[in-house]
Amino acid sequence: MTRPETLQHLLDVALPAMQARAHDGDSPASLARITEASRTVGNPGATPASLPVCNWLDRALAREPDASDLAALFAAFRTLSPLLRWRTRTGDSTASEGFADNHANAMLLGPGGLEERRDLWLGISLLAPGTRYPDHQHAPEETYLVLSPGQFRRNGSDWFEPGVGGSFFVAPNSVHAMRATKDAPLFALWALWA
Ligand SMILES: [Fe+2]
Repeated sequence: MTRPETLQHLLDVALPAMQARAHDGDSPASLARITEASRTVGNPGATPASLPVCNWLDRALAREPDASDLAALFAAFRTLSPLLRWRTRTGDSTASEGFADNHANAMLLGPGGLEERRDLWLGISLLAPGTRYPDHQHAPEETYLVLSPGQFRRNGSDWFEPGVGGSFFVAPNSVHAMRATKDAPLFALWALWA
């Protein structure tokens, strides 16, 4: 089994960039396990599908960070973006009004991903400006690498803004959420060890 070149290149850039910035909680060990497991290739998965909210993607990906590994990561996402399969999730009373039309997630590796597998999930979230993602939780532990402005919270904490290149850990079943600023889309990469 081989992996499409564009996806392999993105992993080669993304996983080291995540590991270099992972200092929170169990993120270093979690990302080490994910990186090791990702050397095994899963099955071919989802075909491309876009959504209207993806009009914000060009703006989210237009960034040219000073850090060369992050600049390479944005370039890799620009190349991979035509292959992505975007999906929405359900909202609830904690989500902003119009949430359904103003967010999308794309799985790279994982259930429903470009590469179908169950052991790890690697994906991205895109929120239009002013959008608040619902409080949510899941059993797998999670590490975020934030790639835009925008705020996050976990365990009912105050909102915090990691900034571009910021990383944090979400423990299993910990309630967490994110929200975009009024002026810019939120774009973030996440990795879960299932
Ligand atoms: Fe999550």
